[in-house]
Amino acid sequence: MYRIDTPKTEEQLNAYFQFRWEMLRKPWNHPQGSEKDEYEQVSEHRMVVDGRGDIVAVGRVHMNMSEEAQIRHVAVSPEQQGKGLGKLIFSALEEVARQQGAKRLVTNSRRISVEFFTACGFEIEKEAPTEMGKLKRSQMIKKLSDVNQVMLHPKWCQELQNTWHETIPISEQMGIQLHQYSGKTFETRASLNKNINLHGTMFAGSIFSLATLTGWGMIFLKLKEKGLSGEIVLGDGDIHYHKPITMQPRALCNIETLDGKFELLERNKKTAIKLQVDILDGENPVAEFRGVFWVLPEKSEKTDS
Ligand SMILES: CC(C)(COP(=O)(O)OP(=O)(O)OC[C@H]1O[C@@H](n2cnc3c(N)ncnc32)[C@H](O)[C@@H]1OP(=O)(O)O)[C@@H](O)C(=O)NCCC(=O)NCCS
Repeated sequence: MYRIDTPKTEEQLNAYFQFRWEMLRKPWNHPQGSEKDEYEQVSEHRMVVDGRGDIVAVGRVHMNMSEEAQIRHVAVSPEQQGKGLGKLIFSALEEVARQQGAKRLVTNSRRISVEFFTACGFEIEKEAPTEMGKLKRSQMIKKLSDVNQVMLHPKWCQELQNTWHETIPISEQMGIQLHQYSGKTFETRASLNKNINLHGTMFAGSIFSLATLTGWGMIFLKLKEKGLSGEIVLGDGDIHYHKPITMQPRALCNIETLDGKFELLERNKKTAIKLQVDILDGENPVAEFRGVFWVLPEKSEKTDS
């Protein structure tokens, strides 16, 4: 079991820098201390630890200027590479950058990690200065939009995100973001760090909120697609938790689970829509939510005379 953590205590910071040195400096015979630079104090540091509390991945981000964040010193222990931990630490850093207002990310990637950063959405911009005087690097850039994935209906997705943040402020506190909408599947993600409990796992109440907002969002988008409108309210909800969330909270709602008659709204009648939302921790299913949402027709402008 892995979890993302922020090194805070002296002991954690020492272990974090030790890991960085072992991964990124020691193989080239650079002394301890060479792994640090002048930006450590103004940077955000993240690490992934395993079930025994040992560090298995690290990474750092700092703001270069108001809209640009730089990702540096990303490393995964050789035995744990290829399991998605690099992407996990990167998404934690990207989230920090977004929260700090970054509109683009830059990194100077060693040749060997260009494919990794490409998989994370970066493109090569130009050659970068060599690292430690010998390792050739490329400067890579990732533009950040408000909504971070390609969406089927970007305008409606943006409207949904804004509606959440404006009308349900807790959604922003929880770091809930739309992740993708394909028409068939709607996925949202939340920040683990913002919803963590005493056990280092996600607070069950936050999981419930993530699930209900995802179901609500799916219906919002379906109404838009059908050219309908109405007020969406949760009528009934039931959640089953199987395992704790220790990495990346994700919620997925598939169109196949929707059951209800949207067309009743055309006749100005309320309608009940049932659906299921699956909660995942990274790739692992950990909980499922079943809910009934009522969609109430918008009040008619006609008045009785
Ligand atoms: C680069 C590094 C951080 C990647 O970490 P990782 O945990 O192995 O990467 P992930 O398993 O999360 O892979 C994420 C994606 O990158 C791709 N990827 C990672 N390394 C790759 C490689 N060497 N070649 C091709 N693709 C690669 C994966 O295929 C995956 O793509 P997908 O999501 O489309 O399936 C890790 O290999 C490492 O620590 N390398 C040594 C240190 C280093 O070079 N750090 C970068 C400093 S600039």
